[in-house]
Amino acid sequence: MTKAASMGIERIRVNVGSKFRPDKPAHVDKVLTKIATEHGEGFELDGYEPSEGVAIFKRESNTLVASHAGNDSMEIRLPQDTKQSDGKKRAVSLADTYPGYQMTTFEPHRRRAIISKLTDEVIRARDAISNALSVDPWNIQVAERTDGGFDFSLPPTYRPSKHDGALEEVASVIIGEPGWYVETDTHGRRGSIIPAELATFDAVYKTPMPKKMESFDHTNKDHFKVPMGVALPEPGQRHQTMNLDLDAHNHSQIGGTSGSGKTVTINAYIAYLLARGADMCVIDTPAKSADFMWCKEFLTPGGWGCDSIRHSAATAEMVRQEGQRRGKELKRAGEVNFKDLPKGKGFKPLVVVVDELTALYAMDSVPKIPKDAPQKQIELKEKAEATNFAKSLLKDAIKNIAAELRFVGIFLMISTQIASTNTGIDTALRTNLGHKALLGAKPTENNRKLVFSDHEAVPMIPPHVREDTAAAKGVGAIEPEGATPVVFKSFFRTTHEYRDWLISLGVAQRTDAAVTPTPAWVAEVFGEDDLDDGADEPAPSAPNHQPGPAGSKAAEQWDALAL
Ligand SMILES: Nc1ncnc2c1ncn2[C@@H]1O[C@H](COP(=O)(O)OP(=O)(O)O)[C@@H](O)[C@H]1O
Ligand SMILES: [Mg+2]
Repeated sequence: MTKAASMGIERIRVNVGSKFRPDKPAHVDKVLTKIATEHGEGFELDGYEPSEGVAIFKRESNTLVASHAGNDSMEIRLPQDTKQSDGKKRAVSLADTYPGYQMTTFEPHRRRAIISKLTDEVIRARDAISNALSVDPWNIQVAERTDGGFDFSLPPTYRPSKHDGALEEVASVIIGEPGWYVETDTHGRRGSIIPAELATFDAVYKTPMPKKMESFDHTNKDHFKVPMGVALPEPGQRHQTMNLDLDAHNHSQIGGTSGSGKTVTINAYIAYLLARGADMCVIDTPAKSADFMWCKEFLTPGGWGCDSIRHSAATAEMVRQEGQRRGKELKRAGEVNFKDLPKGKGFKPLVVVVDELTALYAMDSVPKIPKDAPQKQIELKEKAEATNFAKSLLKDAIKNIAAELRFVGIFLMISTQIASTNTGIDTALRTNLGHKALLGAKPTENNRKLVFSDHEAVPMIPPHVREDTAAAKGVGAIEPEGATPVVFKSFFRTTHEYRDWLISLGVAQRTDAAVTPTPAWVAEVFGEDDLDDGADEPAPSAPNHQPGPAGSKAAEQWDALAL
């Protein structure tokens, strides 16, 4: 019995005959080619014994790993007639003859085998890994890692596309637990099974609220990145912030059933953009508008489009007209995109948040009544028609903003309740909303199809997250324009925290009257300028004429730009 040959170097002796010339590359190559078919690549000539006609080739072994190390291995000489196909038989008989040892290398051509003492864990891992790789256990070497995982050698037959699925299963089910993962180095022919916790989410991730925020600068790409939450990491990776990159696309859509976290997510978006000095508008139904009371005082004049459907339309129309004005200004400056304007001379972001678009868009049913119907019925009918007229104006303005006002610094954020068959958003609008998020831990397949452009590319919420109520709150998946879809959990803060933060940053506060569309503006939008009262009141000045946070850089920039 001899100890295993020197670790890490493999040598083979080849009968090459006495005509072999070690200094002739053609001779050496011929032998190497033959060796490669049986033993693989990587050998080089180490010596030649002319008296015996034997050449010795060696290679640095990357298959002999720790399971051969130390005094726990022995080299066994095999009988002359041992064949490659005798492996199984040999493995059994050696294990019998040497209790506690396993055959870890089988090389009938060299008439040797190596047997090693392996722990039960390594035996189990070796069986599972070799099975996943479709090789015999002695064709791979397996060693325990200090972290409880395993390192192993990869056979030349390893193909990621063919074997990775099975290896993953070995890691997360057969020898490890969910969360354990596999790393392979195809060139180094090594792999590892690494223990890790399953990535999940904490109950809450607090929205970052830095003490200082630079005013929005359209030449600074970082300013376009809205921190919206935390992405679910790949195994072994750390949680990272999920940013909505408004540079990749201006407009976003968030779908989800009631209570899935749409408003919470939108709040993070509103707070960040207000903190950067954006002009903000909120359009919502009166019934749901309480959700946004917290930011009402920070809105741009006329930006509170929540008190009636007429106000919703009036706010949307104000944005549309401001967009058209900006378009003309851009043209005069000889540019097509506001991002190309020089630093310090640009448009402030003008942001429109439409929550619960489904409810805002749903048309009233108009009662059918006879010509001579009583006054009361006529009034009901007219009311429904007036509501629907306002809804049409609103839809038209939103559609126009989404489709045509991308390059003037206007940003749309639209949330919709998502019903089983529709999102409330028609295809024309949908295609203009670049970022698509679906909130809720248990979306139906159909909901995913409705919201995402390529739902198969968007990861599912993993079962362990879905079933954990604390982790699952506020979870969703996002298909962002220009970035990889991820599972994420949105940031959370109370609305009081957001409000205090914005005040501490000096974001301008306004009265209810200032942020509500004026009667005159509403009348103008609805073509009713013959109203006797208030008809001469000026429309709310377009948001661009309002300074941003008092004394802020944005305000100064704005003053400088004002034409
Ligand atoms: N990201 C989150 N982190 C923690 N809790 C959340 C999160 N998102 C939502 N929630 C919880 O779920 C509730 C419902 O969320 P909300 O945004 O109002 O849903 P939606 O607007 O879709 O109806 C919130 O009041 C909050 O308690
Ligand atoms: Mg809501």
